[in-house]
Amino acid sequence: MFESLKVLPPDAIIGIMALFRADQDPRKVDLSVGVYQDDHGRTPVLECVKRAEREIFETQDTKSYVGIAGNPGFNRGMEALVFGHDHAALKDGRLATVQTPGGSGAICVVGHLIHRAKPDTTVYLSDPSWPNHLPLLRLAGLRLEHYPYYDHHEHRVDFESMLKTVNGMKAEDVMLIHGCCHNPCGADLTQAQWRELAQAFERTGAVPFVDLAYQGLAEGLEPDAYGVRVMAEHCPEVLVVSSCSKNLGLYRERVGAASVVSANRAQRDAAFSNLSNVARGIYSMPPDHGAAIVDRVMHTPELRTLWVSELDAMRDRINGLRQLLVDELKERGADFAFVANERGMFSFLGISKEQVVRLREEFHVYMVESSRVNIAGINKGNVDYVVDAIAAVL
Ligand code: LMR
Repeated sequence: MFESLKVLPPDAIIGIMALFRADQDPRKVDLSVGVYQDDHGRTPVLECVKRAEREIFETQDTKSYVGIAGNPGFNRGMEALVFGHDHAALKDGRLATVQTPGGSGAICVVGHLIHRAKPDTTVYLSDPSWPNHLPLLRLAGLRLEHYPYYDHHEHRVDFESMLKTVNGMKAEDVMLIHGCCHNPCGADLTQAQWRELAQAFERTGAVPFVDLAYQGLAEGLEPDAYGVRVMAEHCPEVLVVSSCSKNLGLYRERVGAASVVSANRAQRDAAFSNLSNVARGIYSMPPDHGAAIVDRVMHTPELRTLWVSELDAMRDRINGLRQLLVDELKERGADFAFVANERGMFSFLGISKEQVVRLREEFHVYMVESSRVNIAGINKGNVDYVVDAIAAVL
């Protein structure tokens, strides 16, 4: 029965990671997949995570199932982290959250929930967006469109076009918006733009769906949640997916959450029961270990303080590297000033596919074909080499 299947091209991001691992050249540099790297090119386990793991190892006395919605302590922790303790959605009991296998699992669950509630809905994706948004939502059976987001010439958000799309959306159509650290372009909405968008959603009745995969890596945990919170002040229904892959470095543990803000408590209960039912039908229950770590880190004051300081250090380092890259390129006569204004792990260099391939094949510098670079892959030891290589292909 499988004769009809063909070998598919490698994944746009994970495929590059595999090429990098196979490359034996000692000069190789990985600017592809979105994982944080320290100044030695390592992706460390955070100290707060190590300590929480030790405590779990010592105290856990069963491996029995946790439940379809996952760890309740983790879910409450994520709600407070994303929405803030005082948000009306939380205080009014209008927020439903389930733990999911990573942010991708959350997107999948929310996609199926949308399709179950309204199969005719159109979901608008940012152009450009994280390449996996599209297949995850298409698999849920949803109709997808794109909205203009990034102006490649001006290296900024094309806010006018984005707002125009929202104003043209039907009630209950959905728009997926990157909460912060836009993947792949790094160009984020300002707080004023979030407010303007929220008012447009309120007017049209369209539903915002915020992907907050990088909370804490743009400006800080609180400012990075501004967009979600303002949307949930204006709109009766908001969909949110969040992840601990990046801000706690728990990539391989697959820790995420899907949250739904509803208009009232009764609808919240229906949303929670359907989120759980969708999850049960896809993967039954989420894995425990990563969420148990997060629960512990968030609810142990000492570990939480340690986490915030480790997260702040990652963010400050990335922002410092942005400036370093801009300065070094300027010294070689190339103007990439926009990179310093962008946030999170990614920026587009804005170079051609041919130049990206040359960087990989001649210089062993790996990035995604779109010219998306992971800024965190740069360090003091490789920056000169990377910048010389970029200058050589310009
Ligand atoms: C990325 O965009 O590089 C990360 O989110 C990893 C992934 O799964 O694509």
